[in-house]
Amino acid sequence: MEGARVFALDVRPPQDDSGDTFIPVDVRDAASVADAIDQVVTDAGAIDGLVAAAGLSEEPTPAEHMGIDVWDRTIDVNLRGVFLTCQAVGRHMLERGTGSIVAIASMSGNFIVNAPQQQVAYNASKAGVSAMVRSLAYEWGPRGVRVNAVSPGYVGTPLLTSKTEMHPTWTKATPLARFATPAEVAAACSWLLGNESGFCLGTELLMDGGYSLA
Ligand SMILES: NC(=O)c1ccc[n+]([C@@H]2O[C@H](COP(=O)([O-])OP(=O)(O)OC[C@H]3O[C@@H](n4cnc5c(N)ncnc54)[C@H](O)[C@@H]3O)[C@@H](O)[C@H]2O)c1
Repeated sequence: MEGARVFALDVRPPQDDSGDTFIPVDVRDAASVADAIDQVVTDAGAIDGLVAAAGLSEEPTPAEHMGIDVWDRTIDVNLRGVFLTCQAVGRHMLERGTGSIVAIASMSGNFIVNAPQQQVAYNASKAGVSAMVRSLAYEWGPRGVRVNAVSPGYVGTPLLTSKTEMHPTWTKATPLARFATPAEVAAACSWLLGNESGFCLGTELLMDGGYSLA
């Protein structure tokens, strides 16, 4: 957002020179998340907005053969981690009585099943994020903290770079015939974080280039 001071909390440092302040954190670890959020509050004074975007997807595996360790790792990062981050920041925002949170879900949660790749853990984790957002919105909205979700279709990010052989299949299944850009997803997050979306609460903004229409 224009003029905003941005802190990047991640297990890995940013790959670009975005200028964000980087704080290493593993979102699966409650103490590590709480320490990182304390550090941001100490440094910046307050947190006005959060984009909870940590996520990974498991290698495609038929559900009947999925190892429970793979299931656990996906749910731990994508759902537990996003919840711990929202909870830590939400506590701070509720104390102030103001704030806006956006969680990154996916079209693969509430709208489609990833195809042809079989990814039951990823799909389930993202449906969990969507449900979590609605619950947090209902609980926290009346106390001044808005919570919403952005659910992208395929986005041209490192998450997809190791799957180049699938790109033609995925773009063909997308009526706009391309992936979203990270900038388009960032713009949607920025709008939901800001006051122009002030009446949005528990909204899930689907931006999938039309993938779910067919
Ligand atoms: N790329 C897509 O097509 C697509 C589509 C829909 C939704 N999404 C979602 O968008 C979000 C961002 O993904 P992306 O596409 O930018 O991929 P990405 O791999 O570039 O970003 C995911 C980030 O999560 C971080 N992360 C992973 N485990 C973590 C942990 N334990 N603690 C802290 N950080 C951790 C990674 O280091 C990485 O920076 C994810 O939630 C993803 O599921 C992506």
